[in-house]
Amino acid sequence: MLSYRHSFHAGNFADLVKHIVLVELLQHLTQKDTAFEYIDTHSGVGLYDLQSSDSQKLHEYTEGIGKLNFEEFPELSRYFDVIKSFNDSDSIKFYPGSPSIAQYFLRMQDRGWLFELHPKDYELLQSNFSRCRNIRARHQDGFKGLMALVPPKSRRGLVLVDPSYEIKSDYNQVIDSVIKAHKKFAQGIYCIWYPVVDRQVILKMEKKLIQSGIKNIQRFELGVVEDSSQSGMTSSGMIVINPPWKLFDKMLQLLPKLSRYLRENDQPIFKCDVLVKE
Ligand SMILES: C[S@@+](CC[C@H](N)C(=O)[O-])C[C@H]1O[C@@H](n2cnc3c(N)ncnc32)[C@H](O)[C@@H]1O
Repeated sequence: MLSYRHSFHAGNFADLVKHIVLVELLQHLTQKDTAFEYIDTHSGVGLYDLQSSDSQKLHEYTEGIGKLNFEEFPELSRYFDVIKSFNDSDSIKFYPGSPSIAQYFLRMQDRGWLFELHPKDYELLQSNFSRCRNIRARHQDGFKGLMALVPPKSRRGLVLVDPSYEIKSDYNQVIDSVIKAHKKFAQGIYCIWYPVVDRQVILKMEKKLIQSGIKNIQRFELGVVEDSSQSGMTSSGMIVINPPWKLFDKMLQLLPKLSRYLRENDQPIFKCDVLVKE
């Protein structure tokens, strides 16, 4: 039984790095007219009201998107354009989840596939996207859904794997699924989001991926506190397979600046590295 609901956490510091990278990848894919497929294995509901009782319970967005100002981040103009497109004014009432971010970029020729297992969240996801002709929501296991969709006909695709990791086997399953999908569709762009709660667990995930033989893997991680077993999630990151070539330089500039904003000028905590070369 799944209990995690992203509505309690939307817009927090972990969403920032995930969605900023996602925007960069979608922007890259839309530079060519050729169609592509977007596969979101763990979708959530797609759009979050930051004034809802769930959001107001933990106020996590105030330590994430609430700390950023678009005027101070001109390099994130596209990310802020997406957020603004879901809001009537400059203040952020609605925060777009990954499916809404994808919806902003998808063109007539592209397709989106959204998987969500939580029954209530699936209902909300389905109703949020029922009018989008090129997006399909499925009440199905996203790991299985991914295998059925690769390789896409277009041979261009972006896969986001973003579980909540409330099921501990997810740490292994994420890596196993991506390795399996990559065998069928090696040209695809894959991104894996991960939380750093126990650094050793993340090191194991990284090691398995590095040893898989997959080439061209980068990692972007943003932290709010130094790793410690008492602090819950200290950092979170995105591992990207087949990233566009400009992404690394952009993230190398951005991550320390973001971390400084979130940590209110304390020493930045971030990782920007190549896990496996091209
Ligand atoms: C971190 S949230 C997703 C957030 C979303 N990707 C975003 O960025 O807005 C993870 C979601 O995965 C769902 N979930 C958990 N296991 C799943 C599975 N095996 N297949 C599909 N969805 C799953 C949870 O119910 C939860 O809504």
